[in-house]
Amino acid sequence: MSKIFITRKIDDAVIAELKASFDVEVWDSEEVAVPRDVLLKHAKECDALLTMLSDQVDEELLSVAPHLKVVANMAVGYDNVDVEAADKAGVIITNTPDVLTDTTADLVFALMLATARRIPEAADFIRQGEWTSWSPYLLAGRDVHHKTIGIIGMGKIGQAVAKRAAGFDMNILYHTRSRKTEAEKEFGAQYKNLHDLLEKSDFVLVLAPLTEETRGMIGYEQFRQMKKSAIFLNVGRGPVTDEEALIEALKNDEIAGAGLDVFEKEPISPDHPLLSMKNVVAVPHIGSASEETRYAMMKLAADNIKSVLENGRPLTKVSL
Ligand code: DGY
Repeated sequence: MSKIFITRKIDDAVIAELKASFDVEVWDSEEVAVPRDVLLKHAKECDALLTMLSDQVDEELLSVAPHLKVVANMAVGYDNVDVEAADKAGVIITNTPDVLTDTTADLVFALMLATARRIPEAADFIRQGEWTSWSPYLLAGRDVHHKTIGIIGMGKIGQAVAKRAAGFDMNILYHTRSRKTEAEKEFGAQYKNLHDLLEKSDFVLVLAPLTEETRGMIGYEQFRQMKKSAIFLNVGRGPVTDEEALIEALKNDEIAGAGLDVFEKEPISPDHPLLSMKNVVAVPHIGSASEETRYAMMKLAADNIKSVLENGRPLTKVSL
């Protein structure tokens, strides 16, 4: 019987379905990531791994896993996986595209509105009994509607954001590897080089995946090119932004604020300077975290494993 290791406690029904046909073990914690030595021990024996974005699937792991046929990563991003090494080792890698597109685009909007309209600050203010009277500029933020959003990384999530932005009467700019003519036609999105996008946007949104090309692509120089009133949003991967540069840019008023779902190092330390800045709204990598979508991601990852082990055909394979 093929062996599967799941690196985090996931939905019972999804596990039960796999257990009907396979020998399944689960790292029995929802919050604590599986320790590296436990992951390696299971990799040695297993035909399949169902991994999280916090698990490193690298050459070391692949070299100790002679039976491994598939790694199903429960995320659309797969920068935690060495896809080239997996390809050489004959291991199929799958991810969870599509099922999280709308949920992640919703989170972009939640973060953009929360940052621009100072929602967490306002919620703290009222909870701490500081509200003594209505006043004209009390917690006044910035409008989102009719503003310009610049989307860096116009994949499916970027296009779902563009659709929402069109509903807010926003002017939509984008920068990505290849032009998206459909988004141009449907939402009036305009392709810009990075410099022009940064210069013209009121909201600069990073959704680009983490690759050698995108690592550190938003540094101090890029923040300097943004409007002083710009709000920076990152819902892609933390290391695409130089975090030190972001802190400096916020301190020096090069930009007005930031909404962050992802960080250079996750989990971010509670005493990280970004967390004490009033104009920063930070959430713990919850882009796709709705109950419905997380279930869909678990199910798709499990279905990928089932499909590879039963007939060698992944449903959503990551290609090199
Ligand atoms: C992904 O799927 O890559 C997301 O970052 C998870 O929320």
